[in-house]
Amino acid sequence: MKDLRTHLFLAVLVLASTPVSGVLPRPQQQTDSGDVFSLGEEFQFLAVGVHSTPMLQNAFDRYRAIIFQRRKPDGAAPALSTITGCDVNVTSDVQVKTLTTDESYELHVRAPRLFVRAATVFGALYALETFSQLVRSDLSIDGTVITDKPRFAYRGTMIDTSRHFYPVTSIKMHIDAMAYAKMNVLHWHIVDEISFPYESVVLPQMSLDGAFSPKHVYSIAAIREIVEYAMLRGVRVIPEFDTPGHVSRGWGSLGVLTQCYDVKTGAPTNFGALNPTLNQTYAVLSTLLAEVRDVFAPEAYIHVGGDEVPKECWQSNPQIASWLHEHPSVKDFAGLETYFEQRLLALLKAQGSSYIVWQEIFDNGVEILPDTVIEVWKGGHGGDQWLWQTEMAKVTGAGFKSVLSAPYYLNYIAYGADWINYYSIEPANFTGGAAAESNGLIAGLEACFWSEYIDATNLASRAWPRAAAVAERAWSAETVTNLTDAERRLHEWRCMLLTRGINAEPIGTCSVNAQRVGGPTLQQWCQYQVPGYGGYCAEEWDPVYSAPWDR
Ligand SMILES: *[C@@H]1O[C@H](CO)[C@@H](O)[C@H](O)[C@H]1NC(C)=O
Ligand SMILES: *[C@@H]1O[C@H](CO)[C@@H](O)[C@H](O)[C@H]1NC(C)=O
Ligand SMILES: *[C@@H]1O[C@H](CO)[C@@H](O)[C@H](O)[C@H]1NC(C)=O
Ligand SMILES: *[C@@H]1O[C@H](CO)[C@@H](O)[C@H](O)[C@H]1NC(C)=O
Repeated sequence: MKDLRTHLFLAVLVLASTPVSGVLPRPQQQTDSGDVFSLGEEFQFLAVGVHSTPMLQNAFDRYRAIIFQRRKPDGAAPALSTITGCDVNVTSDVQVKTLTTDESYELHVRAPRLFVRAATVFGALYALETFSQLVRSDLSIDGTVITDKPRFAYRGTMIDTSRHFYPVTSIKMHIDAMAYAKMNVLHWHIVDEISFPYESVVLPQMSLDGAFSPKHVYSIAAIREIVEYAMLRGVRVIPEFDTPGHVSRGWGSLGVLTQCYDVKTGAPTNFGALNPTLNQTYAVLSTLLAEVRDVFAPEAYIHVGGDEVPKECWQSNPQIASWLHEHPSVKDFAGLETYFEQRLLALLKAQGSSYIVWQEIFDNGVEILPDTVIEVWKGGHGGDQWLWQTEMAKVTGAGFKSVLSAPYYLNYIAYGADWINYYSIEPANFTGGAAAESNGLIAGLEACFWSEYIDATNLASRAWPRAAAVAERAWSAETVTNLTDAERRLHEWRCMLLTRGINAEPIGTCSVNAQRVGGPTLQQWCQYQVPGYGGYCAEEWDPVYSAPWDR
């Protein structure tokens, strides 16, 4: 009994001393008042503005659970002024997030009630997240005023459910982590050559032929559930249906793939990219993408890929050759790609969709609609690590909105604290970058997770907390670059994820990180050791495990 009490006492001590080094991503402005308050048990959120939406009420419930889970005011804590609740004033009824949504908020931490003001419910969600990160484990909180808004409108992650399949629960977990990092776009690369798990109602043969198995599918109901779940957390879900390349499984029965031929023997071989010369191709795309637009509503954007189109197959096909002969205005295979993209984008526009494409569409000189968003993905690694700068200069110089993912391919992993490599890339560091940013032509950043080596067993640990380094780059001011400070916050944010049920991986220990060239010395690093900093979390990951003989 005595032992147990000692343990409890120690546990309380550790919890009570859990530090708060600051919010991640770092807010634009924060002024502490020097007061310390404590949250009362009676604490309640209250919508005081004209706009109290179900979305806001839902967030109140979530954050009350997050803040008060397993925490009780500690009897030993000093008597502090008590905060009894939080008044939230949302001043507009915007409920759909776009690239121009006002995501700003103000948070006043003061007694007897906190105060939040936000132009939209989405700003209010971020205020609640910030508040939840400021509360210590003993329910005390420092008085402060935070005025905050994101630097970039698009703060995304990309997941790939073609190369491996993720159950819905793991996607929801990922969305939660995104919301904790104030990220707001899930780019869902839902299908590709490897499998076609999108279960269409209008074209059911696509997943019947293309999914790994009848179990490995996302039904329309499941997708709507994910879209709704994400929207409640301020995250848009943008689906990607990559064309005309990266198609194989799922498309075979529709008569839209190009038959490739052996150039020497003239014998038919495999099937390649979509055949841009067939009207059937556009009929299928029109049917499919109209359904997709509806299933992912209210999101208007669809990513239609356009990367890595292998033209050899088109070149080998005699039917395409004769079509080109009959259509002299389409001069060559680059022209054929333009022809395809123009018909595709016109079709999307007619359906009320907006479009994002990979950079090749721009690189190949395809004449595209001026409202196309271009995703820059090449030249972020190895010997090519700065090539993205030239591309960003060209894309934004031509007046297109861009999303930068090239230097944020987080599916690459390396020994050591590799988050620093991503954190240190300044996205406007290219010729004309500052002007492009102020003209809104850098829509934002995206951390990509191609899933050759990822499935639900390691999505959370590979993505988090590393993607939060990209989240801070996308949200915080350009001047927020102090690695030591970021490291402390990232460590604590990762421990926070564990308490919220997400198995985010450690970012190192003081001895490992101290070896970084130019980084803090071992002594500097370890002096910030709020208990165990770098080495452990106050509440370690404790997996729910059930061995076969225990089930
Ligand atoms: C909410 O904010 C609006 C706009 O600033 C203001 O007019 C209104 O009085 C505020 N309401 C409350 C209850 O604070
Ligand atoms: C294919 O569609 C184009 C454009 O709508 C049209 O001009 C052409 O006649 C169609 N071809 C066939 C074979 O239906
Ligand atoms: C900007 O890019 C250059 C390479 O073009 C690189 O050497 C430099 O470190 C970058 N600066 C920042 C602040 O990212
Ligand atoms: C960086 O952050 C650390 C930890 O917060 C702080 O001690 C240090 O002074 C900061 N460095 C600079 C240059 O601001």
